[in-house]
Amino acid sequence: MTEILITGNHGQLGRAIQRLGAARRLSVSGSDIDTLDITSAAQVEEWVGAYKPRTLINCAAFTAVDDCEEQEALAEAINGTAVGHLAAACRRHKTRLIHVSTDYVFNGTGSQPYLESDELGPASAYGRTKLIGEEMAAQAPGHLIVRTAWLYGRGGRNFVEAIRGQIEGGAEELRVVADQRGCPTFCDDLATAMLDLAESDAEGVVHVVNSGETTWYGFASEVARILGSSIPILPVGTEAYPRPAPRPAYSVLDINRLHTILGRPMPSWQDALARYMDDSCAG
Ligand SMILES: NC(=O)c1ccc[n+]([C@@H]2O[C@H](COP(=O)([O-])OP(=O)(O)OC[C@H]3O[C@@H](n4cnc5c(N)ncnc54)[C@H](OP(=O)(O)O)[C@@H]3O)[C@@H](O)[C@H]2O)c1
Repeated sequence: MTEILITGNHGQLGRAIQRLGAARRLSVSGSDIDTLDITSAAQVEEWVGAYKPRTLINCAAFTAVDDCEEQEALAEAINGTAVGHLAAACRRHKTRLIHVSTDYVFNGTGSQPYLESDELGPASAYGRTKLIGEEMAAQAPGHLIVRTAWLYGRGGRNFVEAIRGQIEGGAEELRVVADQRGCPTFCDDLATAMLDLAESDAEGVVHVVNSGETTWYGFASEVARILGSSIPILPVGTEAYPRPAPRPAYSVLDINRLHTILGRPMPSWQDALARYMDDSCAG
C-alpha cells in the first residue's frame, strides 16, 4: 500500500519529502505537472484512485509570487480550485490530505508571531489564491494545512542560491532588504516535521518553520559568513526593489502548536542553514 503520495514532487519541498520519506522506508510515490496536472479533476481522481494512499501531501503550486499578480486566474486554478479536486478525491478514497500553505495568507503588518487562529487578510494575488486553497483543503475530513515561509532546499531556485551565486560570481557588494522579517526554513526540516505530522492525529492548521526570525539582510549576512566571505552587505528598504506583488513586512509564524504536537523544538534557522550549505558545498 502506498503510504504517502506527493504532488509537485519536482519542486524543492516535494523532492525533500520524497527523499526523506523513502529514507524512513515508507512507501512514497509522487508526480509533477509532466505526469499529473492537478487542475484536472479527472486526472486527480484517476491518480488518487489508482494509489489509494494513506496520506496525500500537496506540494504543487504556482509559486512565482510576482507572476500571480498578472495571472491570478491561473494561480487560482492551481493554488485554489485544484486543491478542491484533491480534497474531493481524498474524501472518496479515505485519504488524509496534508496541504502546504504560506505566510502570505496574513496581511504582513503584524508585530507578534502569527498564531494559526489569527485573522487572515492576504495583500497579494498569490496570498489570495493560497487562502482559497486552504478553504478547499478544509473540506477534506482529517485534513492538515501546513503554513510555512521563506523556503530553501536542494535543487531549488531560492534566496540562499541567489546570494551564493552573487558572492561566488564576484559581486563587489550586496544590497539586501532589511525591513522584512520572517523565518528562513530548510525544506529538509519542514519535510521531517511534515512526515512526523503525518504520523500524528493532528488536524486543522499548523505553522511549520525553523525557529528564530531574521530579515533578508540577516539571512544574506549569515550565508556570507558561512561562505567565509567579507563582501560588504548593505541594508536597504523594501522600496529599493519595487516588485509587482507587495511583500509582507512581518511574516513571523508562531510554532508553539507544532512544538506541542511533535514534543520537540524545530532547529534554529542558523543551524538549518549551516547544514544545508554544508551538504550543498559537499555536492
Ligand atoms: N518557496 C517558498 O518560499 C514558499 C513559502 C511558503 C509556502 N510555500 C508553499 O510550499 C509549497 C512548496 O513550495 P516549493 O518552493 O517547493 O515550490 P516549487 O519548487 O515551485 O514546486 C512546486 C511544484 O509544483 C509544480 N506545479 C505547478 N503547477 C502544477 C500543476 N498544475 N499540477 C502539478 N504540479 C504543478 C511545479 O512545476 P513547475 O515548476 O513546472 O511550475 C513545481 O514542480 C507550495 O504550496 C508553496 O505555495 C513556498
